[in-house]
This record gives sequence, structure tokens and C-alpha cells, in this order.
Amino acid sequence: MDDKIDTLVKESRVIQPTARTKAAAHIQDYDLAYKASIADPEGFWSTVAKELEWFSPWNRVLEWNYPWAKWFVGATCNIAYNCLDRHANTWRRNKVAVMWVGENDEERIFTYGELFRQVNRCANALKALGLQKGDRVTIYLPKIPEQVIAMLACARIGVIHSVVYSGFSAPALASRIQDAESRVIITADVGYDRGKTIHLKRVVDDAVRSCPSVEKVVVVRREAPGIALAAPKEIDWVEWLKEQNVVCPAEPLDSETPLYILYTSGTTGKPKGVVHVHGGYMVGTYITTKYVFDLKEEDVYFCVADPGWVTGHSYIVYGPLLNGATILMAEGKPDYPNPGRWWDLIERYGVSIFYTTPTAIRLLMKYGEDWPKKYDLSTLRILGSVGEPINPEAWEWFHRVTGSDKPIMDTWWQTETGSILITPLPSVPLKPGSATRPFLGIEADVVDKEGKSLPSNAGGFAVIKKPWPSMMRTIYKDPDRYKVYWNTIPNCYTAGDVCRKDHDGYMWFMGRADDVIKVAGNRIGTAEVESALVSHEAVAEAAVIGKPHRTAGEAIKAFVILKQGHQDSKALVQSLKDQVLKELGKIAVPQEIDIVSSLPKTRSGKIMRRVLKAKELGQDVGDISTLED
Ligand code: PRX
Repeated sequence: MDDKIDTLVKESRVIQPTARTKAAAHIQDYDLAYKASIADPEGFWSTVAKELEWFSPWNRVLEWNYPWAKWFVGATCNIAYNCLDRHANTWRRNKVAVMWVGENDEERIFTYGELFRQVNRCANALKALGLQKGDRVTIYLPKIPEQVIAMLACARIGVIHSVVYSGFSAPALASRIQDAESRVIITADVGYDRGKTIHLKRVVDDAVRSCPSVEKVVVVRREAPGIALAAPKEIDWVEWLKEQNVVCPAEPLDSETPLYILYTSGTTGKPKGVVHVHGGYMVGTYITTKYVFDLKEEDVYFCVADPGWVTGHSYIVYGPLLNGATILMAEGKPDYPNPGRWWDLIERYGVSIFYTTPTAIRLLMKYGEDWPKKYDLSTLRILGSVGEPINPEAWEWFHRVTGSDKPIMDTWWQTETGSILITPLPSVPLKPGSATRPFLGIEADVVDKEGKSLPSNAGGFAVIKKPWPSMMRTIYKDPDRYKVYWNTIPNCYTAGDVCRKDHDGYMWFMGRADDVIKVAGNRIGTAEVESALVSHEAVAEAAVIGKPHRTAGEAIKAFVILKQGHQDSKALVQSLKDQVLKELGKIAVPQEIDIVSSLPKTRSGKIMRRVLKAKELGQDVGDISTLED
């Protein structure tokens, strides 16, 4: 981390909520509600928790044994019970839970009752395979309803799910299966990407070869005729569920029972398995979905994320279902078959809450305002953005094309935080480009390396000062890596982001402080890409940096030193890109690769990516007197 961080952006526009938005908001006076929540955070969180159902009560709200937290200690609950039974036992049983649209416009609709029955069948099917509480299942599916069903079925019986984004390649999938030691993989024959067929089952076949823990592979067959399956190891999803009973009581679980592992990139090559638990995660995702999006019974909620990432876990599956919401889930990209795709879906399904990403907004911006103008967007009420800083231009465009009167919730959070931590609420005045202020019950600050609070507008490190219910509990099999988050800056959780806080306490996130690159909002560790490059026979050494990119926020640039006997050529650069594609997947492929003869290093041999980056961007490289090369 650098000692001093310069802040350049000085955006000052303030947008007040409309009278209508304010009158409808669950929280009408943020300052008052925030003050009360911070005066007694445990009181605040326990009041929230009481809106959900518990099988038995907690005896302590929080047990904080720095840096280990337990929330709702001694209570038993089940997040899937709260997502399903709590609604299926009421009039909501016939309310639409999920409306799914495929890339080819196929439509499938699930009421809460139907989703409940499917999840129960799937939970029974998992049990029939001998799965028990604490076992792991890897879900490698495209964005189809079975993803949601499988996640909830695992949760229902205390099995830990590990969802792997279906864009990851076989080696990346294999390493995640190996780390989790999953007994079962749930996958599909194919996914679709802008009309192209992606053969997912083939990727799984490749991966499973090096995964001895895998006993069964369940396959959702989307194409006819169905691909051949090798029994008894490979099972067809429909066959698997067919004979199962629609009743499977939700397992009463201790609140601290692990719910899922989600692998995310960090500063070293090996992805981190972030662990979330039933109780606290349920409380955090429930209340943030309700307050941030001001969710009401009659809303149609559309979050464009993929359940392969944390946004999909928290804000397609758990948060909205905990609230009994109607969710639109759409497979596919924003510009396929044309750039009107999402606007069209908003019109067709009467979407009122639309949660998207800065990258998608910038992509749609490129196609111009005529596309959104073609559609009736009048049902929209609340907008959201997540994953990376949203630049004021993209913010203004999104605001304007949707009618200039819908508030944009710029939500800041992380895989590790489980739920949204820094965010506006609909009744809060907005500043384009700022995620505004902390959510209720969250104490955040901008500090220096020693943890000293910085004055207004000084750039520093974003930290969270107290534990919160949906925080990750550990890194799977690697508790030391977990401790780093709480030990880097004394007495607080370090997010790894640089930030400044303005005179009004509004937080302006400026990007990562570490070696994590954000490409289209996806987290990619420089070390992962470097090790993929180095696995190519021609490569001696590689260094990777993130470079500003108009649409994707950041793009990957690699610097590569070749082994003797290899020459720089177009074909070689292409084969380096193919290597990364093979090792990690499309999202990690560098946009540019430069072949170089040396890399800047410290005397201890650490590559100075900061220097490479400054040089690449034509900035001052700073003091480089300690460099070896
Ligand atoms: O750098 C921040 C950025 O995304 C990181 C977390 O990435 P990930 O765990 O993949 O989760 C993404 C979805 C929650 C953060 O450390 N980030 C996320 N939201 C914002 C953001 N940066 C600025 N503004 C945001 N609203």
C-alpha cells in the first residue's frame, strides 16, 4: 500500500430525492435511523433479526473475539426456510418468486409454492446420494433457475454450496472443486453466450479427471437430443428429481453453520474460499435488500448479476427471496440480440427495481440514447449499481435515460462483506460517483496505514470499524488469510480499497489498493494471470497490471519476459492469450501483452507493478532508487 493517495475527482452535484420517492421509503430519515443504529448496533441487528423466523432464539447477539465473530449465538435457523417456507405458508405461496427468461426468450415462471416444491425435491435427491450436513456441492451452471434451486436445496439440509461462475475454464474449476473437496457437481450440458453454445459439461469432464472427491455429476440437459451420460456417476437432473418427495423439512441449523464457500481473487495466486454462514448472512442480505431498494410487495426486481458471483448470491437469490419479492432473472448479455435487450425486458415485465453495473451502463451508453427511448421504462422506481466505482458521466446518463427522477443506489460492498455496507437509501440526497454513507449499523471510515482517521477529502484506506452480521467468518482451510483483513490496519477490517470522505461524510471509492484488478466489475488477481502466463512454455516471467478502460473500468495488460530461444511474434502473443483462456477463462485474458527484456523489481525480487503501471500511464514513477532493475 502506498503512503499517500492523491484524490483528483471533485464532484459536487447533489440530487435530492423526489417527494414521491421519499414518501414511499422504508427509512425516511437516514441521519436519525443511522445515529440510533450506531448507538446500539446489537440492538439494531437483533430488532432486524426478529423480522425473520428462528427455530430457537439466541442467547447473545454477538460474540466478538477479535477477529472472530459469532452472531445470534446459540440460535437455530435455516436461510432456505426463511426464503421459502416463510412465504409458502402464507398467501405468497401463489405469488411469483422467479420469472426467468433465457437468452432465446424461453420463459419459465416459479411461484413461491412451486419453487418450494422443486427445492424440496432437490434436497431429498441430495440426501438420496448420501449427502449430509457439512458436505460440499459445487454448482457450475449457466444462469438458469436450477442454479437457484440447487443453492437453496443445499442450504435446506445444511450442505455447503460452492457456486463457480460458468465462464471459468477447467483448471480454474478443478482447483475450486479440489479445495472444497466437493462430493457432487451440478452442471448443465450447455450455456449460451450471445447466440454461441458453450459446452459446459465438457469443461466439467476435464476438471473432474483431477478431482477424486467427486462421486456424482448431475447434469441439467437443455439441448435435444440430450447428451449421453455415463451412469452411474453421471445423472440427469430431471430423472434425479422425478421420484423425490416434495416434502423435505428444513434442517434446524446453528446460526454459525456455513452456508456457502465462494472463491474470489486476492493478491496471491490461489483464490480465497470466502465462507458465509446461515444466521448473520440471512439478516444482512434481508435488511439491505429491503431498505436499499425500498422493496415493496408489488415490486418487480431485476438484478442483472450471475449467481456465479456474490451479487447473484446476495441480491438475486437470498436477499430478494428472504423478502418475498418477485424476481426477474435473465440469461444473456445487455447487447444481445441488440442493445435494447434490458430496456425491452424492463418494459415486458414491468420492472420497478433495476440493479446493474457501471460496465454495463458504459456499454449501453456507447449505443446511444435511442435504444432506451424505444421502450416504456415508466415502471422503474429505484436503480442500483455495483462492482466498481461509477463515473459521474455514466451515472448522469443512467439517470437521464430512465427519466431523471429515479434514485441510483451506488452500493459498495465485497464478496467478503456478504451484503451492502456503504450505500445511499432512496431518501438520501445523492452525489453522482459517491456510494454516499454507511448502511445502518455499519461504522466506516477512511484512515491512514496506522488506522488514524483522515481529514475530509484526504485519500486513504476504507475500513469498517466493528463487526457486522453478514461478514465472512473465515477463508476456507486458511484462517491465517482471514486474519489479514483484520490485522493489516489496527483494530479494523481493511477492505483493500482506497477512498476519500468529503465534508458531508460521503465516501468516494477510488479503486483497489492492492494487486486486484477489476475488469467489468470482476475481481481478478494479478498473480493468477501471471501464473497462467508463466505456465506457457515460452514464458520466463510475467507481470500484470490493470489499465483504465472506457467500458470495462479496467483492462488487463501483461508484460512478459520470454525464455531464450523464443521470439516475439503475433502468433506467440495469441498463444499466450490462449494459455490464459485455457487456464482461467475468458474474463482473465489480457487485452494487451508486451514482450519485454526486464521487469522493475525490488532487491528482494518482488515485481513492482506500481512502477510498471505509472510508466504505462505516463505518470511519475516515484522513488525507484531501491529498485534492482
Ligand atoms: O473495489 C471495490 C469494488 O469491488 C470490490 C469487491 O469485489 P467483489 O468481491 O468481486 O464484489 C463485487 C460485488 C459486491 C471492492 O473492494 N466495488 C464494489 N462495489 C463498488 C466498488 N467500488 C466502488 N463503488 C462501488 N459501488
